[in-house]
Amino acid sequence: MNILIIGSGGRENALAWKMAQSHQSDELFIAPGNPGTAAFGTNVPIQVNDFAALKALALEKNIELIVVGPEEPLVNGIYDFFNEDPATASINVIGPSAQAAQLEGSKAFSKHFMQRHKIPTASYAEFTLENYEQGLAYISAHALPIVLKADGLAAGKGVIIATTHQQALTSYKEMLQDKQFGEASSKLVIEQFLEGIEVSVFALTDGHHYQIIGHAKDYKRIGEGDTGLNTGGMGCVSPVPFMDEAFMQKVESTIIGPTIQGIKEEGLVYKGFLFFGLMNCGGIPYVIEYNCRLGDPETEVILPRLQTDLVSLLAATDNGTLEDVNIQYQEGAYATVMAVSAGYPGAYPKDIAIQGIELAASLPETYVFQAGTGFQENEVVTKGGRVLTVTATGPSLKAAVMNAQKGLSKIQFEGMYFRKDIGYEFP
Ligand code: AMP
Ligand code: GLY
Repeated sequence: MNILIIGSGGRENALAWKMAQSHQSDELFIAPGNPGTAAFGTNVPIQVNDFAALKALALEKNIELIVVGPEEPLVNGIYDFFNEDPATASINVIGPSAQAAQLEGSKAFSKHFMQRHKIPTASYAEFTLENYEQGLAYISAHALPIVLKADGLAAGKGVIIATTHQQALTSYKEMLQDKQFGEASSKLVIEQFLEGIEVSVFALTDGHHYQIIGHAKDYKRIGEGDTGLNTGGMGCVSPVPFMDEAFMQKVESTIIGPTIQGIKEEGLVYKGFLFFGLMNCGGIPYVIEYNCRLGDPETEVILPRLQTDLVSLLAATDNGTLEDVNIQYQEGAYATVMAVSAGYPGAYPKDIAIQGIELAASLPETYVFQAGTGFQENEVVTKGGRVLTVTATGPSLKAAVMNAQKGLSKIQFEGMYFRKDIGYEFP
């Protein structure tokens, strides 16, 4: 079948790499894609929210399967756009309906959902300008640290963890009164801080059944030892040593099962990936957040580790056979390490030439997935903060990380930085 992947990051590069291997895959298109995806299909310069142009492309190229990478088009209703139009309704669009995408698009929606279905999560309250004064009192009486979250999508920047009441009150005012994140912070969720280790679990669902397709731990801070500013993600490992069968059992019985049951009971239309951001609090899993898509850079470790054919798996969400699929993983450990531009997550330069990508990718069991890159006169140059990621495998987690670093040692661009301590806490 002909396939369209929507997006342009490392996640989409990994999706293109994985889907191109399927015997069910004919022509692959990526909109807009990047130089990394161009190795597996045809990049088409259409932006992810240009639904009309995506529809025209899908019809022209006889697309039968669309995988939506980022959250924004999902929250904006790309699933419904294709599903409600008789010309495109038969296309298998992987992603939830706009209503179900509110599990990521609105923190208040997802907290209400978890409350209705008794899914463990941090205690919380929500505030708008209408109950502004109550929020001030709520914060002042709350234990520290305290977590403030913009209700809507804020490009990963809408969460503040305040360690003093003063800081929390200042952020509260900035978000709600000064509209720091525009409409996204016109409502806030204020919640209890959960102490523990974060882990992400990825499922694929058709709204009735689900399959777990992997899990990962990501490293969000820019600095080694988890210090400094938050980023989109600096690396990941999978599998995570503490994700043993007993813990996974708890995750399934208290979180994933009840979430899918809730989706079903509420009649939410959901055919796609569901990303559970979890906190392991002394052996008990809590939900930090839902995302209605795959993670980036989590996808760059979970797809190389996933042995099962992804195109067949995605087809199974459409024909009612998801339950019957047998998920298989590769042996060994996987790690991915992100190379970023100098200055990231602050301001950074662009259009810097990158050398050595092919050399790194030629190492055994080493994969280079491009994220913020572009072509300039046939040369690959930097275009974003997170530039590319190198994934590698090995018999142990340490070996996998070392192999990823070996791959990165072949790649150069001016100002290139990466964390050398991914997976540091696991012996
Ligand atoms: P979110 O956008 O909800 O994933 O939040 C971004 C990050 O903030 C998460 O990945 C966590 O590291 C942290 N975080 C969010 N909520 C909490 C919480 N209730 N307790 C502790 N950390 C949190
Ligand atoms: N790496 C976190 C995310 O994709 O949201």
